[in-house]
Amino acid sequence: MRTTRAHSVEDLRRAARRRMPRAVFDVVDGGAGDEHTLRWNREAFERIPLRPKALVDVAHVDTTTTVLGDRVSMPLLLAPCSFARMCHSDAEPAVARAAGRAGTVYVVPGGSGERPEVVIRSAGGPLWYQLYLKPDQAMNDELVERVAAAGYRTLCVTIDTPIKPYREKDLRNGVTLPVSPSPRLALAGLAHPRWSRDFLFGTGGAGLDLFAARRAYTNFTDAIMHSRSVTAGEIRRLRDRWQGPLVVKGVLRGDEVAEMADLGVDGVVVSNHGGRNLDGAPATIDVLAEVVDAAAGRLDVLLDSGVRRGTDVVRALALGAKAVLVGRPYMFALAAGGEAGVDRVLELLHNEIVRAMSLVGVTTVKEIDRSLVGPAPATARPADVRGGTA
Ligand SMILES: Cc1cc2nc3c(=O)[nH]c(=O)nc-3n(C[C@H](O)[C@H](O)[C@H](O)COP(=O)(O)O)c2cc1C
Repeated sequence: MRTTRAHSVEDLRRAARRRMPRAVFDVVDGGAGDEHTLRWNREAFERIPLRPKALVDVAHVDTTTTVLGDRVSMPLLLAPCSFARMCHSDAEPAVARAAGRAGTVYVVPGGSGERPEVVIRSAGGPLWYQLYLKPDQAMNDELVERVAAAGYRTLCVTIDTPIKPYREKDLRNGVTLPVSPSPRLALAGLAHPRWSRDFLFGTGGAGLDLFAARRAYTNFTDAIMHSRSVTAGEIRRLRDRWQGPLVVKGVLRGDEVAEMADLGVDGVVVSNHGGRNLDGAPATIDVLAEVVDAAAGRLDVLLDSGVRRGTDVVRALALGAKAVLVGRPYMFALAAGGEAGVDRVLELLHNEIVRAMSLVGVTTVKEIDRSLVGPAPATARPADVRGGTA
């Protein structure tokens, strides 16, 4: 698809669904269990009204900001997502290039199909590295050293995946980890020839590129299948070994934030993994204000899970997030149009942020405050669930 014809994240999602075998699309699109949390992530954003200011000159809107020392063109970063090679053979290096062109940060996933050293060579801007801890401490230490030597400045450790992910949709679709070829998957591939050609041969078309596909699976399986609990002791150990900013991804409670700040963590990502792990976890926007208030400025609070619109970015910043991250939006874009697709989704989201800021009457990111949101409509859950929205 020529992704210039897509005008929203949802357009790109539909294009991705057409291009990919259904079982593969579901791996990206789906959530855990009954997908309650996946749904709540969207519903919670949709329930928060925006309260625009009038009498403001919005002829010039500046979306730039600084996140943990990195200057970015907008308060929207790309979340770490494994499986990029399943969306498009150009995979993580393409995402890194597009992020660099758009002037924002890409958090390279621990389960990246390409080695961190290869991805950073493609980057035009700052990259962060996301870590899943493995049981073998020596392997963790070695990886952290490798990542630092490669030039990554910020390390992001994910704490919400202490056990192997379990998604019934994938099991029903016959997609297991590690992935094993089956007649069903082969048939689905035949029905989606453009996707299959790219998956099997890559964009170079020089020959069978199954090696890269296989490496992507092996790396992901390796990172995730042996993932383990991250305790305070592990964070302390990482803090001792990592010189740059340290971010913890997967926080959903305010009462843990002071301890993280004490441990020397520089930032937390309020995340429920896009509704892919604990079904029943709250929508992130519903707990954001609680986490921000608990952080009391001691560390930066970021948010992901369900961000699809520029107006969602304004809602999250109004409730105290420094920036947001998106996962599926750029994965759909990658599937729909490769690297150009990722350019397109970042262009769309940037334009939406400019439009949303203009329409709520702010010209800089710093001006976005709690007065711009709420009160929640009467049909919504009680205000205290949202943590005291002004
Ligand atoms: C296909 C896919 C793979 C993911 N892989 C990882 C991963 O390897 N590490 C990680 O910390 N989070 C991973 N996530 C979660 C994202 O980083 C992020 O929290 C989530 O996608 C945000 O929600 P959104 O997709 O609604 O934007 C993955 C998400 C998706 C959709």
